[in-house]
Amino acid sequence: MAKKLWGTRFGKKTSSLTDKFTSSIAFDKRLALYDVLGSIAHAKMLGKQGIVPKPDAALMVKGLNVIMRDLKSGKFKFDLSAEDIHSNIQEALFKKIGQAAFKLHTARSRNDQIALDVKMYIKDEIDNLAGFIAELQKAILKLAQKNSKVIIPGYTHLQVAQCVLLAHHLLAYIEGLERDKQRLQDAKNRLDTLPLGACAFSGTGLAIDRNFVAKKLGFKNVTANSIDSVSDRDFIIEALADLAILSVHLSRMAEDLILWSTKEFSFIDIDFSFCTGSSIMPHKKNPDILELIRGSVGKIQGDLSSVLILMKGLPSSYNRDLQLDKPPLFDAVDTVKDILEIFIALFENVAVKKEEIAGRLSDESLFSVDIVEYLIKKGVSYREAHDIVGKMVRDCLDKGKKISGLSSFELKKYSAKLEPDVKKILNAWVSVNLKQSFGGTSPKLVVGQMHKWQQRLK
Ligand code: ARG
Repeated sequence: MAKKLWGTRFGKKTSSLTDKFTSSIAFDKRLALYDVLGSIAHAKMLGKQGIVPKPDAALMVKGLNVIMRDLKSGKFKFDLSAEDIHSNIQEALFKKIGQAAFKLHTARSRNDQIALDVKMYIKDEIDNLAGFIAELQKAILKLAQKNSKVIIPGYTHLQVAQCVLLAHHLLAYIEGLERDKQRLQDAKNRLDTLPLGACAFSGTGLAIDRNFVAKKLGFKNVTANSIDSVSDRDFIIEALADLAILSVHLSRMAEDLILWSTKEFSFIDIDFSFCTGSSIMPHKKNPDILELIRGSVGKIQGDLSSVLILMKGLPSSYNRDLQLDKPPLFDAVDTVKDILEIFIALFENVAVKKEEIAGRLSDESLFSVDIVEYLIKKGVSYREAHDIVGKMVRDCLDKGKKISGLSSFELKKYSAKLEPDVKKILNAWVSVNLKQSFGGTSPKLVVGQMHKWQQRLK
């Protein structure tokens, strides 16, 4: 068992129950590499500043580099009886270089050390996540480009509303994901300050050089207040909040695809390799992956709540409660990465059922707004136009008629401004072509947007 970093003052062994209950090595071992990288920079600084003799610093750096290599190759044996990853690395270093290892913890506390490790972890993971998000955006863009001429009936309140290009709908996902990427980048920029050197919480009397360490570890700056450095976990909460928002987007996308893959919608077909079957109903082809994506999002939101509640009510400075911020953070990062990975693959396995979708576009209620706007262009007020079209739609539904089947005489009964040419706009292509306001679904605009994303995601 690794020696406790604080054992001497106790003069007595802690209960095995205490050890088990307080240990965090089971989960913080994944911070090992960051812990070692932080220690290497710290040891170099101690040597440079003459706080420890240069040969000792060099020995520590050498030993830590060996540990780093062992970690990377999987050779490093974690000591699961250690209190935490810091004690484990410290002990491993002692085994490699002997007494000199005891100088490593000079002008440092686990309080600032853990804040450093987690910040380094989040910075790396944000880069990884940004890569995954970009890949997902590309997969979505590909599907949009492949089906750039497909018009779908769009829905509001899950009721048939107006025609839109499928590509337009898909590009909406890409917009949201872009903001998710930016939010994570913002979080990264904000947390990019080195907490090491705060020590327990008040700083140190030893002549450390924090800027040197920051530079070595790639931090833009150093934290300006030692108490803040060890107290706050707002950077974890912010990253989790960003992941929670991203996950809401992922859940909505999953829900859309689940609906679209039903027999009732029949907009898409998901390849068998990304579906599952039923043990009792032989005909079933279920979108379980999408359902699990939707379901996992609850877990991610729980992770955010978990850390918010953990932090609420803590006094300033370090409290051991803070140890519990890591499992939810790791869980959210892992879950989001798993979702992104499978979503990318799934999007590549979606086939659009063009004929079935085309069959839905004869529903003339899809064009009611276009008729309203036709009348507005002829000088009818919005209110009056809405009433005219409302009456026409109601009559057609009551009498089982179609607007396209109304005679010029019948049209004139609703409004003198309704000429037979109104029937020309009862067409999906005409309808989408009309939506030329910037951000709208006209093919010209959508093609432009696809081109923009093609360039941006390169
Ligand atoms: N395992 C602790 C954490 O995750 C490390 C810091 C412990 N500090 C202390 N003084 N006990 O936050």
